[in-house]
Amino acid sequence: MYTCGILWRLGHLRHGWNSGSIVCHSVGDAGVRKYERVQLLFRVALRRFAITAVTSHPHIRSARASDLDALVELEHHTFTTDRISRAQYRRHIAGATAAVLVAENHDLLGSAVVFFRRNSDGARLYSVAVSHHTRGQGLGDTLVDAAEKAARQRGSRRIFLEVRHNNAGAIRLYERRGYVRIGTIPAFYEDGEDAWRYEKTL
Ligand SMILES: CC(C)(COP(=O)(O)OP(=O)(O)OC[C@H]1O[C@@H](n2cnc3c(N)ncnc32)[C@H](O)[C@@H]1OP(=O)(O)O)[C@@H](O)C(=O)NCCC(=O)NCCS
Repeated sequence: MYTCGILWRLGHLRHGWNSGSIVCHSVGDAGVRKYERVQLLFRVALRRFAITAVTSHPHIRSARASDLDALVELEHHTFTTDRISRAQYRRHIAGATAAVLVAENHDLLGSAVVFFRRNSDGARLYSVAVSHHTRGQGLGDTLVDAAEKAARQRGSRRIFLEVRHNNAGAIRLYERRGYVRIGTIPAFYEDGEDAWRYEKTL
């Protein structure tokens, strides 16, 4: 019989995953070989996990002018009316009255746009978009969370938004995050559809 203590010193990714070590007491050659194999398998699994973790978590940041092409493409694929134009995106990115956030993971996978008004403690979450193939994985929620944080940082105490009355997915996302319906705006969209207005206290 022998006892083995496995000590894994998980260094930061930058330092690689090779710092795991196994401390064995009273182990014969066979035992050492066995635990070297276990160690190797652990390393491979951890490396795979690390690669998956790095590649599958989009990073949220403020948009730059170099994102314009990708933002316009996402807008085009996401919305059929009421699109934000390239010129408008350019202004919002450069200006002080909007926060344009993007989610990227090599590619641009999502965006959120928040508007601010001088002398108002209410921000407006104007748009949230997630690319088709990334939906249902929590990115919409992450973007709304980042939009709310951006609003809080700008001193907003409330955040408003409008959403198509029949956009069940978005409505569920907002209501789950504590947005409360405060009214209807008839014919709000370019195609004449009504919007429901929501508010959340930040
Ligand atoms: C709405 C949108 C941003 C959601 O993004 P997403 O990444 O798919 O959302 P998430 O994966 O973070 O989902 C979060 C929650 O939203 C709700 N939800 C999102 N999509 C849904 C759908 N198609 N049907 C039902 N609920 C949905 C759910 O409550 C979900 O939580 P759950 O999985 O625990 O049930 C995305 O579908 C999208 O880009 N739609 C087109 C643009 C749009 O309508 N934007 C909002 C108005 S501007």
